[in-house]
Amino acid sequence: MNAKYTHIIAAALGALLFAGSVPAAGPVKSVDQRAPLVLLDEERHIVLEEMRNFLAVLQTITDALTREDMKEIARAARTMGSGAANEIPPKTVAKLPDEFKVLAGNVHTIFDLMALDAESLADPKHTLTQMNDLLQKCNACHGIYQIKVGKTAKK
Ligand code: HEC
Repeated sequence: MNAKYTHIIAAALGALLFAGSVPAAGPVKSVDQRAPLVLLDEERHIVLEEMRNFLAVLQTITDALTREDMKEIARAARTMGSGAANEIPPKTVAKLPDEFKVLAGNVHTIFDLMALDAESLADPKHTLTQMNDLLQKCNACHGIYQIKVGKTAKK
C-alpha cells in the first residue's frame, strides 16, 4: 500500500472515531418531558408517600380478590376513598394544577365506588373492572407529570 492510501485510510478512521465521540449539537435537553410539579422536598415526600399507599392498597385489594373477600376489598378501598382523611396539606394542594386535582379526585371516587359495589354487588369481576379503571387513571397522571424539588411554587 502506498503512502497516499495509508493517509486516506487513517483520515477516514479518524473521522469515524470523531463522529462517534462527539455528542449531538445543541443545548442539553432533559430526557423526561413530563410537566414538572415544583414542590418542596417535604411536599414531594408527602405526595410520594400517598402514592405508595395507593400501590399498597391495590396490592391488598388484589390479594382479597383472589379469595373473593368482598368485605376486605370494601375496607381497603375505603381507606383511599374521598372520605379518608386527606394526607396532603392544603398549602401543597394549592400548588398542584387543576388537571392534577381532577385526576386525583377521580381516583378517590373510583375507590369510593369500589367499596360501595363490593358490598352491594359483591361481584369480583366487577371489582376487577374498577381496578382497570383505577390503573388507567394512575397511568394517565404518571404520563403527564413529574415532581421536581424547588422553591418556585406554581401559582
Ligand atoms: C393526579 C396524578 C396522579 C395519580 C392519579 C396517580 N399518581 Fe402516582 N405519582 C404521581 C406523580 C407526579 C408521581 C411522581 C413521578 C415522578 O416524579 O417521576 C407519582 C409517583 C408514584 C409512585 C412512586 C412513589 C415513590 O416513592 O417514588 C407510585 C408507586 C405511584 N405513583 C403509584 C400510583 C398508583 C398505584 C396510582 C393509582 C391508584 C397513582 N399513583 C395515581 C401522580 C399521580
